[in-house]
Parts: sequence; C-alpha cells; structure tokens
Amino acid sequence: MVAGPVVDLRELGGDFTRDPYPVYAELRAAGPVHRVLDPDGEEVWLVVGHDACRAAFTDPRLSRDWRKSGNMAQIVNTEQDQPALAHMLMSDPPDHTRLRRLVAKEFTPRRIEALAPRVQQIADESLDAMLAAEDRRADLVASFAFPLPMTVICELLGVPALDRAAFRGWSNEMVARTSPEAEARAYQEMPAYLAELIAAKRARPAEDLLSAMIHTVDDGGDRLSPSELIGMSVLLLIAGHETTVNLIGNGVRALFAHPDQLAALRADAGLLDGAIEEMLRYDGPVEACTDRLALADVEMGGATIPAGSTVLIAMADADRDPERFRNPDRFDIRRDARGHIAFGHGLHYCLGAPLARLEGRIAIRTLLERCPGLAPDADEAELTWMPGLLIRGVRELPVRW
Ligand code: HEM
Repeated sequence: MVAGPVVDLRELGGDFTRDPYPVYAELRAAGPVHRVLDPDGEEVWLVVGHDACRAAFTDPRLSRDWRKSGNMAQIVNTEQDQPALAHMLMSDPPDHTRLRRLVAKEFTPRRIEALAPRVQQIADESLDAMLAAEDRRADLVASFAFPLPMTVICELLGVPALDRAAFRGWSNEMVARTSPEAEARAYQEMPAYLAELIAAKRARPAEDLLSAMIHTVDDGGDRLSPSELIGMSVLLLIAGHETTVNLIGNGVRALFAHPDQLAALRADAGLLDGAIEEMLRYDGPVEACTDRLALADVEMGGATIPAGSTVLIAMADADRDPERFRNPDRFDIRRDARGHIAFGHGLHYCLGAPLARLEGRIAIRTLLERCPGLAPDADEAELTWMPGLLIRGVRELPVRW
C-alpha cells in the first residue's frame, strides 16, 4: 500500500513544539506509521500508538548502527568515525551487548539505591543556594533541575571538576541542535575536551567509573577501544542529565497546571512514586526515540517503510494512547501509569532508569517540602522550548516562592 501524504511538522509551528499531543493523536487515528518532515525538514517515518511503538522498539530490522548506512551525516552533522558516537546507543548486537555489559553492573537498582544519601545532599545544597535569593525568584532549571543530575553523574564517573557550562552547551546542541554549524562544533569540541579529562584521570586514577573504564582499555584494549572510552563518557554524561532535567521540569509544570494534584501530593508523600511514573507517562523527557535506520523494507499497518529510511518512534504518543491508558490526557498521580515507555523498550531500554527514578523522587519531594509556596513566575506561553523531536522540555522555568 502507498503511504499517505507527507505531513510537514514545520507548518504546525511553535504550537506543535509546545503541545504535540493532538497532532500525534490525529496521526494515530489514521494509522500507526506516517511520513513526516521533521522540524529540520528531513523526511522521516514516524511510528505512533502504544502497540506499534513497542513493536518497533523490538524490530531487529530497525537498527541503531548508522555506520551501516555509510553516511553518518544523514542523522548528525559529523563524520563517520566520530568518537562521541562510539557508544552502546549507536550500536546493534554484538557491539551493543559488549558495551552495555561493561557498565550495567554500576546501574543496578541496588547499586543506585546506595547513592540516595548523596543525591539527597546534592538536592539540599542546590536548594540552599536557590532559596538564598533575596527576591525569592529563580530559574528552576538552572538552579535545581540541571545541577542535581549533572553533579550526580559527574561524581559517579569521577569528573567532579567538569566544566559544566561548556558541557551543557555542547550537550544541548547534540540532543536539540539550534543549527547544523553549532551541532558540528559541539561534536568537535566535546570529544577533544573529554580526551583531556581522560588523560588527566589516567595520570591520577581513583575509585570511580571512569578509572575502571580506562583500566579496561589499558588492560589490552580489547574490551573498550580508546574511541569507545570517549563514546561511553559522552553517552553517560549526556544521557545522565539531559533527560532527568526535564523529568523535574516537566513534572513541576504538570503540578503547577493541576493544583488539585499538587495539593494531593503535598498532603500525602505516599503518592510520590506513582506521581513520578505519571510524570514520565504524561509528559516524559523523551518525545520520540533516537533515529532508527531501516535495514530492510518494513511493513507496518499496511504501509511499507523502504530500506534506508529514518524511523522515529513517538513515545510521547504511545503513552497517551487511549487503547492503553484510560483518559490518557488527564494528569492523575493516583493512576497506575506502569507500562509507559518513557524509558524506551527492548535492547536499548534506559540503563539509567533506576537512577532517574531515584533522582526524580528525591528532587520532587525535597522541592515540595522546602518550598511550600512554590509557584510559576511566567506564563506557559512565554517559555522557550528545546527544539527538535527528541527532548521535550523548557530551557528555563521561572519560579517564585
Ligand atoms: C527521566 C530520565 C530519563 C529518561 C526519560 C531516559 C530515557 C531513555 C530512553 C527513552 C532511552 C532509549 C533511547 C532509544 O532507544 O532511542 C534511554 C537510553 C539510555 N539511557 Fe536513559 N533516560 C533517563 C535518564 C538516564 C540516566 C540518569 C542515565 C544515567 C546514566 C541514562 C542512561 C542511558 C543510557 C546509557 C542509555 C542507552 C542504553 C542502550 O543503548 O542500551 N538515562 N534513556
């Protein structure tokens, strides 16, 4: 069957970035797969609906290894053997299996739970600094949602002195580019900067994850190559903060927009775990997955995605599918939101999910406890959104208390 007309998401303007859900719902009503022009004007195939998205995540014909396309610049503005891309989220088995296994033991729920006291301390320190503002106003992203996960992942890796301002700039360009030139610059500068950090760590190893990873390279080089060492550091540092920032930001915005839910959560801390799952489902930090490459023609819902196409899985839509969640557009912290796919699904299921949940719970609980009068300090319409389809969130979230 021939697919329907190409939908140009650029024509939908800023409203689509602010609230893409009605557009996805309309597409879903017409079928599970659509050709669209993404915000950069690139043609991609978009999968919508809960069942179709889950199926796409586990379809081995949809690859994450863009080296197989022979043209890395098809998805990111950089060359084929860029070390920042030599990581598990850019690979298929067996490379994926080998790379993930090397660090998986660091991210098990038990290992992560042991970090709780330190995460709490970091949350308190960030809030101490934020709440010292005499005018009782702050940007919640810069003061709290960003420093918390960034500090945690830097300490876990063993790079506490990382230049966070520079790193945040490069990282933002890699996940939500403002221009192809700025993205290309980030791909040049970040790996060079990390190579220096790695050299310094090699000279003074410690009890941390980066030292352990360097050891696997120096110990014969057959488990993690020098490029893969940079790639793993890039991935953990970026994935370790870009998303959690927006779990906190989107979660707080959802609470502001639903005062009854905010009041219920303030009144009963027992609702916290469910509230975090509902925040992930209702307005998760990842809107559509990282690009997949169709290795063969893939038939889906009567349409054929041709081999060589770029495929995106709209997780934001999957988690608003009424076939899976009743009244999906309602933010309800008491619902059973389990089964959402905000952390992805299948082989690349988020390695950091236990850490993200821990950080999210501590962040939201501490924020509500210490800021009883927390309120928005700008209209939703004034907020600036991260561009692109990957990350959902605002650049700044002005608050007062
Ligand atoms: C709320 C916060 C988070 C969300 C919503 C999230 C979401 C995701 C998603 C959707 C994927 C799969 C992407 C795809 O298949 O295209 C993923 C992968 C990944 N995430 Fe997270 N993530 C979060 C936090 C974290 C944290 C804190 C870390 C810390 C290290 C992390 C590390 C990773 C890694 C390493 C992968 C790649 C896994 C693989 O390729 O096997 N994430 N994440």
